[in-house]
Amino acid sequence: MSARIFSYSQIDIAKIIEHLHAGYLLALPTETVYGLAADASNEQAIQKVFHVKGRPDHHPLIVHIAPPKERSGVAQFWESSLAQWSSDVPPEAIVLAKAFWPGPLTLVLKKGKHVSSLITGGQDSIAIRAPRHSWAIEILQAFPGGLVAPSANRFGRISPTSAQHVFSELGGVCADQTLMILDGGDCSVGIESTIVDLSRLDQIGPVILRPGMIVESQICAHLGLKKLSLKDDSLRHSGGILGHYAPQTPLISKDVKTLTSADFGQALLAIVTFSDIQELRQQWPDMDVQWIHIAEDPENVARNFYGLLRDLDEKHYQKIIFDQLPKSPAWTAIQDRLTRSVYGSGAH
Ligand code: TXA
Ligand code: MG
Repeated sequence: MSARIFSYSQIDIAKIIEHLHAGYLLALPTETVYGLAADASNEQAIQKVFHVKGRPDHHPLIVHIAPPKERSGVAQFWESSLAQWSSDVPPEAIVLAKAFWPGPLTLVLKKGKHVSSLITGGQDSIAIRAPRHSWAIEILQAFPGGLVAPSANRFGRISPTSAQHVFSELGGVCADQTLMILDGGDCSVGIESTIVDLSRLDQIGPVILRPGMIVESQICAHLGLKKLSLKDDSLRHSGGILGHYAPQTPLISKDVKTLTSADFGQALLAIVTFSDIQELRQQWPDMDVQWIHIAEDPENVARNFYGLLRDLDEKHYQKIIFDQLPKSPAWTAIQDRLTRSVYGSGAH
């Protein structure tokens, strides 16, 4: 077997667990994006993740853990599962885990002594998340320990939000490797988890390292804070690289209401817009444009963002123009991904 997609009815949990124990890779559906998962206790399996992704080995990985099976004793449950990875689990971590897990939030804590520096990229912190996708939960609850899982794309490229995306990203690379891709449908959130650093609370307080669909005000409400400290870049995280999540087609972001004829080129363009495309067609009748309308709703844009960029990238337009995003906090994470996609876009 090289890379192969399985639907829920085609494979049972025991086979998946066996596959992971044997040190093979698994493309795991989560609510954010698909992860490229491996047994977090198996260094050879972790090395395969770096190799298949083409990821520099000093970039740390998130460990994915299971949520509790029962509703009672949740705080104690998180306390003891986080203590397996961290030498210092602050009360803030339990508060946030109780509020948002399983869900699209990653916590960075001080790492436990025995945690492999392969996972942490040599840093003294560890990133942990309990994902919400039902299949991911089922697997994690059946798998003792945790699974490292970066997004299942080649390093720097567009993150996958369906099993087919994973196959087109990694199928070729894994032609001689065993990769089991689970088809858990389209991701419901669509962009990566919010990362909150709680490893330096005594120095700088909680910091958002990567914005996601759980926003600053929600975190603050649970921690009893007005604001979080400003992000600093002393912790390495690959989502912090400017050119990331990038299509090969040149991508720009611009308010579609301010287009001028200079924005149109010789060949076919794709323009993604919140505006009415009938009106735009009337305004620009002679231009060679594929107009794509998208509803101005942050959850909807996040859910479709990577899939849309990937589809458009495969069609080889001369250029993609993405409408300017609204400026409110609900759009911060999407703006972050769009800015990086724009920066990294084009053939390199
Ligand atoms: O939603 C998500 O978080 C997805 C799904 C699969 O769970 N995972 C994901 O993984 O986005 P990845 O590897 O593509 O991005 C993880 C980010 C990177 O920016 C990495 O550098 C950062 O988390 N990270 C991991 N460990 C860290 C640590 N100890 N300190 C700071 N940042 C860390
Ligand atoms: Mg990624």
